[in-house]
Amino acid sequence: MRMTVRSVSSMVVMVLVLAVFAVPAVAAALPSMPSSNFPSSTACGCHSDLFTQWEPSMHAQALTDPIYLYKIAEADKATGGAVTPFCLTCHTPVGVMAGEVSGLDHSGASDVANEGVTCAFCHHVTGTNDPIGNASQIVSEEDVRVAQLKDPQAPHAAAYSQFHETAEFCGSCHNVNHPSNGVHLEATYTEWKNGPYSAEGIVCQDCHMTPGPGVTKPNPGKAASTGPDREHIYTMTFAGGNVALGDADKAEERLKAAAQLDLELPEIVESGDVAVTTTITNVGAGHYLPTGLTEVRQMWLEVTATDADGTELLRERRDFGTVMKDEAGNYPAEMWDAFEVHTDDRIPPRESTSNEYSFAMAEGPVTVKAALYYRSCSEEIAEGAGVEVPTTTMAEITKTVYSSAEAMESDEPAPEAADQEDGASEDPVTALGTVEMLLMAAAVALVAGVVFLIVKRRNAK
Ligand code: HEC
Ligand code: HEC
Ligand code: HEC
Ligand code: HEC
Repeated sequence: MRMTVRSVSSMVVMVLVLAVFAVPAVAAALPSMPSSNFPSSTACGCHSDLFTQWEPSMHAQALTDPIYLYKIAEADKATGGAVTPFCLTCHTPVGVMAGEVSGLDHSGASDVANEGVTCAFCHHVTGTNDPIGNASQIVSEEDVRVAQLKDPQAPHAAAYSQFHETAEFCGSCHNVNHPSNGVHLEATYTEWKNGPYSAEGIVCQDCHMTPGPGVTKPNPGKAASTGPDREHIYTMTFAGGNVALGDADKAEERLKAAAQLDLELPEIVESGDVAVTTTITNVGAGHYLPTGLTEVRQMWLEVTATDADGTELLRERRDFGTVMKDEAGNYPAEMWDAFEVHTDDRIPPRESTSNEYSFAMAEGPVTVKAALYYRSCSEEIAEGAGVEVPTTTMAEITKTVYSSAEAMESDEPAPEAADQEDGASEDPVTALGTVEMLLMAAAVALVAGVVFLIVKRRNAK
């Protein structure tokens, strides 16, 4: 066998790439299959309701999502293209199986490959390999759509799949391990598995495939326009926390249902320090808060104390998330460089995290506000991706501390003063104006009455 310089050098590159990125135990391995095995979502006409639910989801946008495109371009550049095929496996499983997409160039992608995590892919999955994660799905070559319905009445071949009722179905993509060193980059499935919801039999589908937020069952309806009425059907919404690109209303609802925020402080402090305790409880998420791509997601608590003059006595911010470390120990590391978890202070399901703060008491009443915020990514990434990424208030609470019992009783409007900061309360100028107008109307009526009586008397004379 004759080897050219070119083929030798490309072999060296390949060996290097394999050495860095391919450890079979954790590498993604979807089978090869033509994309013609998977009809496009546009062919699912009988399921128009389900299509309307899926279309705005991040699943439908998994390959075209600008935040994803921004990060994969970075990953591609940093690894000389080596990590890109790995990234693609979950973001376009059909494109990867069909060999239509292997790098940043998507021009060879069929319509169905462009649909990211599409209907036909999920409804061809029959099981998972071990370990669960990194696209561990077993995909059927047969032209049969599988789901949880035990009596499918479809014009196409359809069959029952118990696997679709399990969290493992989702876990095969929602556990992402580094392809060469296996460190958990995303561990939503494992977080769920080790938590209380798994023990209670509440799966991902119960919170993310129902009208929600929370476990909203039963949801009666039809699985297809031509099908029978059913006691419970799932929705193809898959809403999470992505307010910028996903179904904003549904994402916001879920974010607001995820956490409970408590604020403890004394009602009266004459002088000295005021001790404040905040407690965040993960009451609504079946996994850590936040979860998923937590080195990119942002969740933070902000605590402020403001006196009656508007002077800030306290402003503290605490961020929750995962910080990754690279092999040399540098942090924060990008996901492709991640070798170890450096810190992880997220909140497990049904668990709480408390924080303590203090500030020196002012003379008048002091308004203390605690708020928990979420953003899908940093300003920097949002700008790079050309996306407007709003901040969502997951929970907020305001309380007032007074310098004496008398001040507390006489100073009832204090909480309103806090609202004014948010622009939520009635404008005091307008309120005054209304009173003035009423007084003026009464005066005008009085004068008019007197004039009327005088005129009447004159006429009578
Ligand atoms: C991420 C994978 C995924 C995607 C994408 C997806 N489905 Fe589903 N689908 C499921 C799962 C899982 C179930 C069953 C849930 C359960 O039993 O817990 C299901 C259930 C169904 C059912 C049974 C009826 C019902 O609503 O419960 C139909 C029909 C269906 N899907 C059609 C579709 C169509 C059409 C699309 C695209 C517009 C789609 N699915 C997209 C995973 C998916
Ligand atoms: C083929 C891989 C795959 C499977 C199977 C899968 N997902 Fe996803 N999922 C993804 C990818 C990729 C994204 C991120 C897409 C993006 O944001 O660009 C995602 C995003 C999500 C989000 C986040 C949406 C948001 O608003 O931030 C939720 C929630 C979700 N999936 C739930 C589920 C559930 C529940 C299941 C199981 C029924 C499931 N997924 C199965 C790949 C998958
Ligand atoms: C008890 C309800 C519940 C269960 C069970 C549940 N989730 Fe969630 N999930 C939520 C809530 C609420 C949010 C929004 C708060 C957040 O972002 O963590 C969420 C958010 C998400 C997100 C978006 C995270 C982000 O910030 O981008 C993903 C992805 C997700 N869930 C996937 C899953 C998967 C996969 C499972 C099963 C292994 C699952 N969820 C089980 C309630 C649940
Ligand atoms: C094993 C499946 C899998 C692989 C491989 C994978 N991802 Fe993802 N990706 C997901 C899932 C699931 C989510 C949703 C998690 C969440 O919502 O927080 C996601 C979300 C994302 C997001 C967030 C998008 C948004 O709109 O907020 C980015 C960016 C991203 N992935 C980039 C990458 C890059 C870059 C790689 C390769 C280094 C990669 N992914 C490899 C499954 C995968």
